Amino acid sequence: MRIRTFEEYQSAYDQSVSDPEGFWAEVAQDFEWKKPWKKVLDWNFEEPNVKWFVGGKMNITENCLDRHVREKPNHPAIIWEPNDPSDDTATLTYKMLFERVCQFANVLKKHGVVKGDRVCIYMPMIPELAIAVLACARVGAIHSVVFGGFSAQSIADRINDAGCKVVITTDGSVRGPKQIPMKDTVDDALIGCPTVEKVIVSTRTRTPVSMIKGRDIWWEEEVKHVSSECPAEEMDAEDPLFILYTSGSTGKPKGVVHTCGGYMVYTAYTFENVFQYEPGDVYFCTADIGWITGHSYIVYGPLLRGAISVLFEGIPTYPDAGRFWDIIDKHKVNIFYTAPTAIRSLMGFGPEYFKNKDLSSLKVLGSVGEPINEEAWNWYNENIGKGNCPIVDTWWQTETAGIMISPLAHITKTKPSFATLPLPGVQPVLVDENGQEIQGNGVNGNLCIKFPWPGIIRTTWGDHDRCRTTYFSTYKNMYFTGDGCMRDEDGYYRITGRVDDVINVSGHRIGTAEVENAINMHTGVVESAVVGYPHDIKGQGIYAYVICEASSHDSELTRKDILATVSRIIGPIAKPDKIQFVSGLPKTRSGKIMRRILRKVAEGDFNNLGDISTLLDPGVVEDIKAGAIK
Ligand code: PRX
Repeated sequence: MRIRTFEEYQSAYDQSVSDPEGFWAEVAQDFEWKKPWKKVLDWNFEEPNVKWFVGGKMNITENCLDRHVREKPNHPAIIWEPNDPSDDTATLTYKMLFERVCQFANVLKKHGVVKGDRVCIYMPMIPELAIAVLACARVGAIHSVVFGGFSAQSIADRINDAGCKVVITTDGSVRGPKQIPMKDTVDDALIGCPTVEKVIVSTRTRTPVSMIKGRDIWWEEEVKHVSSECPAEEMDAEDPLFILYTSGSTGKPKGVVHTCGGYMVYTAYTFENVFQYEPGDVYFCTADIGWITGHSYIVYGPLLRGAISVLFEGIPTYPDAGRFWDIIDKHKVNIFYTAPTAIRSLMGFGPEYFKNKDLSSLKVLGSVGEPINEEAWNWYNENIGKGNCPIVDTWWQTETAGIMISPLAHITKTKPSFATLPLPGVQPVLVDENGQEIQGNGVNGNLCIKFPWPGIIRTTWGDHDRCRTTYFSTYKNMYFTGDGCMRDEDGYYRITGRVDDVINVSGHRIGTAEVENAINMHTGVVESAVVGYPHDIKGQGIYAYVICEASSHDSELTRKDILATVSRIIGPIAKPDKIQFVSGLPKTRSGKIMRRILRKVAEGDFNNLGDISTLLDPGVVEDIKAGAIK
């Protein structure tokens, strides 16, 4: 159902609140179902137990592929732009993509993958990644894509948590000038992964890799021996489609589970309405498929709508800081969706990188993953959009599956750094610390959602109670987002950032506890505490306070060792930007670290530390202030 005017938005919104089931049933009509649903929605937030399109049977790939192959087989589906601009671009039409997905689905089947099995995908941004994802969905296997920047340890943790049977990877990958050994990393991970039976390796870099007999097989060899026809497995709307791991305040990353029917309806609906996608538009989302943005808005959302989706292998600064603008020029991109970090970093390189590029094809710009500051918003608007392209600042999360609060391009009046208004079906509320809803406008609070939408998280893999306690127990009968938010006088929403112990570094979610655990693995470390601090480019940086054993003398070497340890345990994205060695941490008498003080010091705000009289040893604060890193 396509919204075309602000009045239509308002009436869709009103209907979605007064009659959510009627509203979503109408939206869902737009898809091919193998069997219709018996009930649109069943829910309670106590357990939680949310089911959409109950009893409906379908397969998301029939909606992404088969229907478009019937209607427009030779229409481009994916345009692949390689890391090196002098290499050939590849265009996969819907028919080509369909055949390759079916072929690879048959490879999975041949190796014993059946509905409900978990498959880990650890790959760079090449078409085979999208093909692997869709092939899993075709046979009903649950994919767990692990971002290519994670370490062997992180891969192993995720494989073991999900009990994956198969891993799909590549020999290596290229990112800018660097070659990255993907298969070696997988081999290291698999030392501790007893559930993995097969590893399917696609060729990208032709670097030598070890292939273990009986376990490792080549993608290119396998697809030669299978048919390119593969009927889609019949899935229940509530069968899991995928697991995607994400960081929270405590413990290890949790596997967010999304299910087939609701995810399909929600990603397609939000894609076409937020971006106002028109047939034939070229759409370019710069995210990695290893994150939710890539799942929902490179693969599923665009393909569900028969769109042309650009899949870019490289990085924004290779071979130079004009690469995004080159790609827009080369492929005549109409809709461009990126993260504030990228915008801030490219701003710094100056106008010479975009001034001679033809950006006139652009109609819509998008932003996602972190708050966009006004300066970056204005720069994006003036220099890239030339004042003609609305910026859709889209707020959402791994757990929400799709965009929740955002302008609709050309329909909702935008305002710098505001995500503006909720999409139809989304009922946001701001609550105070006591869980009381804050009414009216011109207010601030914690952002919750009080009614289910089709893309809502269903469970956390293997531990349903963790889902309940993390999202549904802070405030009764509400989904808690973990974000702070203001609603201004116009009723517009502005997300102010996380209110929990999650840091958002360049749009990547990192749990402070995770980084602390990794730092504490270093032999010389006694204890550590990690906080976020404002960072000009990354949004937030990671500041670690570390207590070392007295014996470590060479602090520079220890610092480097700690960075290497964090890289090894989590991955380079979690490396602290600043490490301050301290003799003690500010703890209350009950042993709790007062992070508020650490955050203030990291921000350089020494005068507003608040009451420190409840500390066991207020003296440590002076030491911490004295050694603070600018
Ligand atoms: O803090 C919010 C921030 O990113 C978090 C979700 O991260 P993740 O699950 O990795 O998903 C990122 C891509 C959707 C949120 O809790 N965030 C996301 N989008 C915005 C944002 N903060 C402000 N404005 C946004 N547009």
